[in-house]
Amino acid sequence: MGPAIEDLSAHIGETVSLSGWLHNRRASKGLAFLVVRDGSGIVQCVVNEENVSAESWASASTIAQESSLSLTGVVKRHERQVGGVEVEVSDLSVIGSSDDYPITPKSHGTEFLMNNRHLWLRSRRQWAVMRVRNRVIMSIHELFQGKGFVQMDAPILTGNAVEGTSTLFEMDYFGQPAYLTQSGQLYGEAMAMAMGKIYTFGPTFRAEKSKTRRHLTEFWMIEPEMAFYDLADAMQLAEELLVHIAQRVLETCTVELGVLERDTAALASITGPFPRLSYSEAVDLLKSEKTLELIDQRIASAEEGLVALQAELDENKARYGQAKKGEKRRIDAREIQINAEVEGLTEALRNLPKWRESATSFEWGSDLGGSDETVVTWHFDRPIIVHRYPAAVKAFYMKRDPDDDRLALGMDVLAPEGYGEVIGGGERATDLEFLKHQVQDHGLPEEVFQWYFDLRRYGSVPHSGFGLGLERTVAWMCGLQHLRESIPFPRLLGRLNP
Ligand code: 4AD
Ligand code: MG
Repeated sequence: MGPAIEDLSAHIGETVSLSGWLHNRRASKGLAFLVVRDGSGIVQCVVNEENVSAESWASASTIAQESSLSLTGVVKRHERQVGGVEVEVSDLSVIGSSDDYPITPKSHGTEFLMNNRHLWLRSRRQWAVMRVRNRVIMSIHELFQGKGFVQMDAPILTGNAVEGTSTLFEMDYFGQPAYLTQSGQLYGEAMAMAMGKIYTFGPTFRAEKSKTRRHLTEFWMIEPEMAFYDLADAMQLAEELLVHIAQRVLETCTVELGVLERDTAALASITGPFPRLSYSEAVDLLKSEKTLELIDQRIASAEEGLVALQAELDENKARYGQAKKGEKRRIDAREIQINAEVEGLTEALRNLPKWRESATSFEWGSDLGGSDETVVTWHFDRPIIVHRYPAAVKAFYMKRDPDDDRLALGMDVLAPEGYGEVIGGGERATDLEFLKHQVQDHGLPEEVFQWYFDLRRYGSVPHSGFGLGLERTVAWMCGLQHLRESIPFPRLLGRLNP
């Protein structure tokens, strides 16, 4: 095995062997330029007919997109190429051919790409997203392990509803009803009483019946739970976690963020302290004049944006006929981006008037909807934490605010740039009688919560925790329009394959 492509710059002047797939190929008289990817990176490999065998040249001049191959060559410094290097090939052979690869550099619709997700993952952009996802995961473990938290695995099959009964996937467990877990929290609370500070890192399921950009039916959640933490301590930890993730992504994903054309200034602004607002303050802000101004500004700029994109499309179309091959490729690639941007702006223009209406008519006591949250974040330059929500809109396990019984000691962290709620959590109720009432009021079966009540019967302590949505975090770090690209094989309403 030779070096990974991402490490080639440490092998200048050496003869190396590489194995990978053909990302793309250009040929001119006697020369073939093969862009090869191996999963770690991509590199241009130049095959000169005069320097290789007839077999190698035949392969180089016919090999098709996404064929697998192995080659030997000398690594040369080449500042203008990706990775700063190029490989001068001396030998090349095809391992597995690839005829009529369905995903070509030209524009494909989302449905088509989603149906070919198993192949789409090989594209440069998806590669970048998955690499960022990997870094986000690593950075989360890093932070918690560094602070002495114990990672625990909560069960996936459960008899307990955690976040209400409306989004449960029910199944038959040998004649008994069971659910796919919505959250590992209740088990995390038990484990925190054993270990002090824990975090879960696992799949969770919600039967979300609406198609939105922010909801998956299967997503990964990280749920720290800490004995002796109050609400303020939990907010502090949530802030530290997000700052750490953003910093690690910025430090370690330069290439990936470049591929994604992510605005890195937006990530660099994820620094503490995050503004903390009570729900009541957030509602006042939502209903302010300034909010209406911000919404109207967005409407105006979305309209302008659409006009500009349409002009660019027209111009590209006019140029296409006379364009050279490379230029055509660039226009095709740009068309994919433009279509995505147009989709985004069109959706914004459809939604913004509704958001305006929702902000104006919002009444204290209702839950902040996705759009209300987004609008509130527009007032700030970094993530914000909203705390002390009306108890009626929050889960049964939340502790009441001792200063105002209408409120629950819950908190949500809201990300900027429209990413919205990435973290939800708070301080847990510890009073046994109160919890029993809550379970009843929420229409939950008391029998299956007996074990949970035991945590309050035997050495109960104040404790807090929260859940971070992995896909929402990855989408935010990458600047993705939709959660479907943030997980290898997304599960959504109407999407179970591949
Ligand atoms: O706010 P949620 O529902 O909180 C809980 O489940 C708590 N039990 C967590 C805790 O306190 N231990 O969900 C937490 C986070 C949300 O902020 C969001 O980031 C993500 O999980 N999330 C989803 N992500 C993708 N698709 C969905 N359908 C999601 N629902 C929640
Ligand atoms: Mg929530």
